Amino acid sequence: MHARAVAAMATALLGTAAFLLPTSDAGAGIAVEPPTVIAHRGASAYAPENTLAAVDKAAELGVDWIENDVQRTRDGELVVIHDDNLKRTTDVEEVFPDRAPWKVRDFTAAEIALLDAGSWFGPAYAGARVPTLEQYVGRVEHHHQKLLLEIKNPDLYPGIEQQTLKVLDNEGWLDRQHVADRLIVQSFSAESLRTVHDLEPGVKTGLLGTPDVSDLPGYATFADQINPSYGSLSTSYVAAVHAFSGPHGRPLEVFTWTVNDADTARLVTGYGVDGIITNKPDVVRDAVHGV
Ligand code: G3P
Ligand code: CA
Repeated sequence: MHARAVAAMATALLGTAAFLLPTSDAGAGIAVEPPTVIAHRGASAYAPENTLAAVDKAAELGVDWIENDVQRTRDGELVVIHDDNLKRTTDVEEVFPDRAPWKVRDFTAAEIALLDAGSWFGPAYAGARVPTLEQYVGRVEHHHQKLLLEIKNPDLYPGIEQQTLKVLDNEGWLDRQHVADRLIVQSFSAESLRTVHDLEPGVKTGLLGTPDVSDLPGYATFADQINPSYGSLSTSYVAAVHAFSGPHGRPLEVFTWTVNDADTARLVTGYGVDGIITNKPDVVRDAVHGV
């Protein structure tokens, strides 16, 4: 079994923060860290998803890693929003009642900037905006956090990979330090990820989903991670993923989603995952790090 899986299983059972695995050297051991905790759409259980407030909330909780979703406006601005339309997370139906079906790609950046992206979540967040990617990256940088950036619906937005990388470059996120330790680009689209890898081979990438193990050798040529929903996971699947090396010569990693309770966090830690993507990063951190 993969060392992380063994260690994680023991962590789950014992509730300890980290411990030493025995090795063949008497008295020596391998320190194993608990999984990385990633705030899904920011700390989205506590602040409106994909807003700067959700980034701030994650920072307040001491969470390093932030996940977001990137799409494109009619006039070509990259914005951070999950759905391909604006209805669920903004007041677009009130502000633009004649613009059904309110697709992100049918609105200009200036129009989207008028929308309230916080009131749906709670009055305390009234006036929160849909951020541009540039604004969002700036806030993540301000807090010295790390970014798991999802390219959402790339089929709708030809060229979004190159454009995303350009914004990241402009914001200083393609320098050695960010690429080494602070940036991962993920997508459900293998084609989109392959494009990111071809354009910027140093950038770490994650393929969302639970592909057949037989397909992993192909994905491992351009993806560093396989990131499945937790319901589709098992210890043997995680071990199978770990057995392959990615494009940067390291074992493929597994970041799973979206885990919002302590029991499930301990369960997937036992499977040996490398990261847990969660709306409640404080709950998951406490569960996997011990108290
Ligand atoms: O980060 C994983 C997760 O975000 C993928 O699903 O629909 O929440 O973007 P979704
Ligand atoms: Ca996402």
